[in-house]
Amino acid sequence: MKDFSGKVAVITGGASGVGRSLAFALGRRGAKIVVGDVDAAAMEQVGDDLEAEGIEALVAHCDVTQLASNEALADAAEERFGGIQLVFANAGIGAGESGAMWDYSEKDWQWCLNVNLWGVINAIRAFMPRLVTQSETTHFVVTGSGNGALLVYPDQPIYTATKAAVHTITENLHYQVQAGNLPVKVSALFPGPHIVDTGLFNSGRVRPQALQKETAGNASGISSVDDMKKMAAEFGIELKTTHPDEVAAMAIEGLEQDAFWLLKTTPETDAKVRARCDMILERKTPVPEQVGG
Ligand SMILES: NC(=O)c1ccc[n+]([C@@H]2O[C@H](COP(=O)([O-])OP(=O)(O)OC[C@H]3O[C@@H](n4cnc5c(N)ncnc54)[C@H](O)[C@@H]3O)[C@@H](O)[C@H]2O)c1
Repeated sequence: MKDFSGKVAVITGGASGVGRSLAFALGRRGAKIVVGDVDAAAMEQVGDDLEAEGIEALVAHCDVTQLASNEALADAAEERFGGIQLVFANAGIGAGESGAMWDYSEKDWQWCLNVNLWGVINAIRAFMPRLVTQSETTHFVVTGSGNGALLVYPDQPIYTATKAAVHTITENLHYQVQAGNLPVKVSALFPGPHIVDTGLFNSGRVRPQALQKETAGNASGISSVDDMKKMAAEFGIELKTTHPDEVAAMAIEGLEQDAFWLLKTTPETDAKVRARCDMILERKTPVPEQVGG
C-alpha cells in the first residue's frame, strides 16, 4: 500500500503507546482512524488529540477479549466510513509476572491469554471475513513480540507464551490468504528494536476487576520503563529504549512495501537469534537470555 489517503485503519489498543503512534502516523498520511480500546480516559485523550490535528477519527469502546466487541467495532467502522482497508490487532498487556510460574495466580494466565492471544483470534474472526470479500487489497497487521516469536526471555513466561502463539497464528494467516489467493496482505509487527517506552509495563491500569491477582507473591514491582531501566542497571545493563513513533514509522515503511516482517533489530538481537537457531540445530542445552541489547 503506497497511498494511505482516504483508507480506513482500525487499531485495537489505539489509545496508548504503539497503537496511538500508529493512529497519528496513519492519520497524518490522510487515513481515517478507528481506535478500539478499554481505557476510557486514554480514549478521550486520543480522540481529542486526533481531532486537534484535523484527523478524521472514530474512538469506540472495544474489549478485544470479546468476539462481539470486535464485531461491534468492525460494524461501527463500516457504518461511519463505509469500509475497512487496514486492521491492526495491536492491543496487548504485560501481566507483571515474577517468580516461579507454578506459583502464578491463575488469573494472571487468564488475563494475559485473554487479551494477547484471544484478542488476536477475535480480531481475525471479526475482521477477516470482511477483508477477504473486498475487491481492493487490504492489510491485516498483528502486533507480536520478539519475546516469544524469536527468543525466549526468562521471567515473563505467560507473555512469552502468548506472543509465541500469536506469531504462529500470524504466519499461518499469511499462508492461508496466499493459498486462497485472497486480497489481504498479512504482516507481523514487532515493536522495537529496543524496549518501547509505552504503558505496557503499567498494564494493571486496565486489568478487569474479575481477573485481579489472587496471590500477592508474584508481583514484578515494575510499572514503567524507568523501573525496567533501574532494574537492569542493578545488573550492570544499560537498557536502551525506542519511542513508539519510531515503531509506527517502521511499520508504515514496511506496509508501503507489502512486507510480512515489520521488524527492526539490533546486531545484538540478530546474534541472539542466530545463537538460538544454532542451539536447536546443535542440540545445545538452552541458557537464559539477558534482557537488553
Ligand atoms: N512496549 C514494548 O516494548 C513492546 C514490545 C513488543 C511488543 N509490544 C506489543 O505492542 C502492543 C501494544 O502495546 P504497547 O507497548 O503500546 O502498550 P500500551 O499499554 O501503551 O498500549 C496497549 C493498549 O491496549 C489497550 N488494551 C489493554 N487491554 C485491552 C482490551 N482487553 N481490549 C482493548 N484494548 C486493550 C490498553 O488500554 C492500551 O491502550 C502489545 O501487543 C504489546 O504486547 C510492546
